[in-house]
Amino acid sequence: MAMIIRFITVVAFFAAAAPTVSAFAFPPSVSTSASIGNARIRSQMTPAIATFISPSSPECSIRSSSGSSSLSALPFSAGSGMMMNSFVVKSVARKLIVALVSAFALLNFRKVFQPNSLIKGDKSTTDADLPEVAPSCPFIGNQILVGSRQFGTGYFYHKMSAILNHPRMWVYSFMGTPGMVVSGGQRVKSILNKEFAADGVKNYVQPNGVLNEHNLLAESDKKKHSLLRRLVGSAMTPSRVTASMPALQEAAEKQVQKMVNSNKDNGHNNDIYTMETVCNDYTLDVAWQQILGLDLKEDDIPEFTKAVDTWISGFTSVRVNMNIDAQRAPCFKAKKYLQALIMEKIEYLEKNGPDGSTVSGMVFAVDDNAEVEGGGTGRKLTKEEVVENSLLLILAGSETSASTLTNAMLCIGLNKETWKNVVEEQKKVVSKYGNEQGKVEFTTKMLDRECPYLDAVVRETMRIKPISQGAPRTTKKTMKVDGFQIPKGWGINWSVLLTHELDPVTYKEDGSHMDVRTGFVPERWLEDTTKPTTDFIPMGAGPRYCLGSTLAYAEMKVFLAVLAQNVNDFQLAEGQKEKDVLWKRLSIIPRPLNGVPITIQPSTVVSESIKIEQEVSRQIKNKIPTISVTDLPNKKMITKQDNNEVDLVLS
Ligand code: HEM
Repeated sequence: MAMIIRFITVVAFFAAAAPTVSAFAFPPSVSTSASIGNARIRSQMTPAIATFISPSSPECSIRSSSGSSSLSALPFSAGSGMMMNSFVVKSVARKLIVALVSAFALLNFRKVFQPNSLIKGDKSTTDADLPEVAPSCPFIGNQILVGSRQFGTGYFYHKMSAILNHPRMWVYSFMGTPGMVVSGGQRVKSILNKEFAADGVKNYVQPNGVLNEHNLLAESDKKKHSLLRRLVGSAMTPSRVTASMPALQEAAEKQVQKMVNSNKDNGHNNDIYTMETVCNDYTLDVAWQQILGLDLKEDDIPEFTKAVDTWISGFTSVRVNMNIDAQRAPCFKAKKYLQALIMEKIEYLEKNGPDGSTVSGMVFAVDDNAEVEGGGTGRKLTKEEVVENSLLLILAGSETSASTLTNAMLCIGLNKETWKNVVEEQKKVVSKYGNEQGKVEFTTKMLDRECPYLDAVVRETMRIKPISQGAPRTTKKTMKVDGFQIPKGWGINWSVLLTHELDPVTYKEDGSHMDVRTGFVPERWLEDTTKPTTDFIPMGAGPRYCLGSTLAYAEMKVFLAVLAQNVNDFQLAEGQKEKDVLWKRLSIIPRPLNGVPITIQPSTVVSESIKIEQEVSRQIKNKIPTISVTDLPNKKMITKQDNNEVDLVLS
C-alpha cells in the first residue's frame, strides 16, 4: 500500500509538473516481470520513461519532454471560453495536486527527501551488515530503469558501480523500496541455486493472464517447476535442436536470399538492410516454423507477427496490469488468435502423429515417473500447458536472439577483420561439406567442430552486450552472502552486465573491454588463458538456466553462417563509424538506436572460390597433378600446387 501511495505521489507530482509525464506510470514489477521477454516490451516503455529521465546523469535528472520545467507550459487559446474554463479547472486541479503532494512530502519528509536514511538491515536474525548504499535521489530513489544513448540499457548499473568503485554487492532503492545488486558468476549462481529453497529466493513473475500460471516461468513450486521443465525441455534437447537444423537453415536462407536477390535485381549494391528488422523476421519465422510447426502462407506471416507484437504489448499495458476491463484489451484478442493456431496444431498432431516441431515434442513428452491425476504414472502436458509454454518460448526466445544477432552485426561491422575470418571459416565448411552447387546442410556437430570462430563471435557478442539482468528474485528469509546480509523480502537484481564487466579475465581499467568499438575480440575465446569462464552468464544460472540455450546458439550461428556463405563483405550504412554508436535507452538486451542498417556485397567471389576449392580437392582426390586455370570459373584466380598442398591466391 505504501508503495502504491508513493507511486501515486510521484505520478501526481510529475503530472503537475508536465501534462504528459503521467506516462511515467510504470510500476517496477511490470518492468521486471518482462525481463527475459521481448523488445516490444521495451518499445512500450521507452517513450514513457526515457523521455523524462536524463541520460547524462545517473541520478536526479528529471525533465519534461519539451525541456521546460512546466507549470507555465499550458496549451490554451485566449479567444475560447471553453478552453478558458478548462484552463481554469486544470489550473485549480493542478494547484490542488501540488498542494497535496507538498503536504504529503512534508509529512513524510525522510521517506521523500532522504530515502536512504530509512534503509535498515535485519538485525534480528544476523549480525552481518548491509553493503554500501548507492546515493539516491529524493522521491524516486535510484533510477534503475535508466539507459543512455551512449551505453544503452543497464547504464544505471554500469555508472553507479563505477561511482561506488565496483563493489560486488550494493544496495539501491527504487521509489522507496530497497533492493540489492549482485554481480560475479559464483556469487550469482550461489543465489540462483537457492531458488525454491525455504530460506532461498523466489522469482516474482506474476501470471496476469497474458501468460497464465501454466507456464514454467511463473511456476514457483519446485516440484511443479521441475516437472514442467522436464516435459517442455524434452522438446528442446540437443538432439531435437539437431533435428531442427533444416528448419533453422531454411528460415535463415529466406532472409539472406531476400537481401542478396534484391541486390542482384537492382544490379547495384546500395540497397540498405536494417539488420534489426531482418533478425526480428528471422527469429519470428523460427517461432512459427520450428517452435509452433505451422505452415503459414507468405500472406499470413504479417498477421502472425502482428498478433505476437500485440500479445506481448499486454505485459506492459496499464489497462491489463491494473485490471481495467482487461479481458477486452487487444492483447487478449491476439492471444486468442495465437492460442487457436496452437490448439489446431495440437489436434493435428494428435491425429497424425509427431513431427519435428517443438510443440510436437511437448505434445508427446511423457514423464514416466510423474504421477497422473486420478492415479498411476506417466504424466503428460495438458493442452493448456502446451499452449502457454509454446507462447513462453516465443516470448523468451525471439527478442533475445534477434537482439544478439543485431548486435553481432554491429560489432562485426565495426571490426572489419572479423567478417573476413567468419567468411574464411565458412569457405572451408563449404569446400568440405558442400554439394555440387556448394550448398551445405548444417548440423550441430558441423557447427561445433568446424566453426570455432563463429562460436567465438556469438559468445563475444553476448559478453560485450548481454541481457542486462534476468528476472529479479526476492529473498524468502534474510540471507548472508559474502559476509553481507540481504534482508527478507528484498529484491535481488543479479547483474549479468556487471558480472561480465568485472570479470578479471577480461577487465581493463579504462572500460575498453566493454566497448563495441575497441573491446570486441572474438579471438579471446580461442585460447584457454584468455577466454571468460565462470564470469560469463548470459543465459542465467541455476534451476532456471535458459531452457532454450542450445536452440538459441544454433539459431544464431546458422544465421551468421548462411549470411557469411552468401555475403562476402558488408558495411555499416549511414556512416556509422567509430564514434557514433548510439543505443536505445531501454531494452531487454541493448539494441542499437538505428537498427544497424548495412549495405552488402553478395559473395560472387566467395562462391567462385568455393567452386575452385572444390575442384582442387576433387582433382587431388583423383590424383590429378595439375589443374588448368582456364577450366575454373574465375580466370583471374591463380592456383599453385606444391607437394599436394594447394593454395588459392585471389588476384
Ligand atoms: C540470445 C538468446 C537468449 C538469451 C540471452 C537468453 C537468456 C535467458 C536468461 C538470462 C534466462 C534466465 C532468466 C532468469 O533466471 O530469470 C533465460 C530463461 C529462459 N529462456 Fe532464454 N535466452 C535466450 C534464448 C532463448 C530461446 C531461443 C528460448 C526458447 C525458444 C529461451 C527460453 C527460455 C525459457 C523458457 C526460460 C525460463 C526457464 C525457467 O524459468 O525455468 N531462451 N533465458
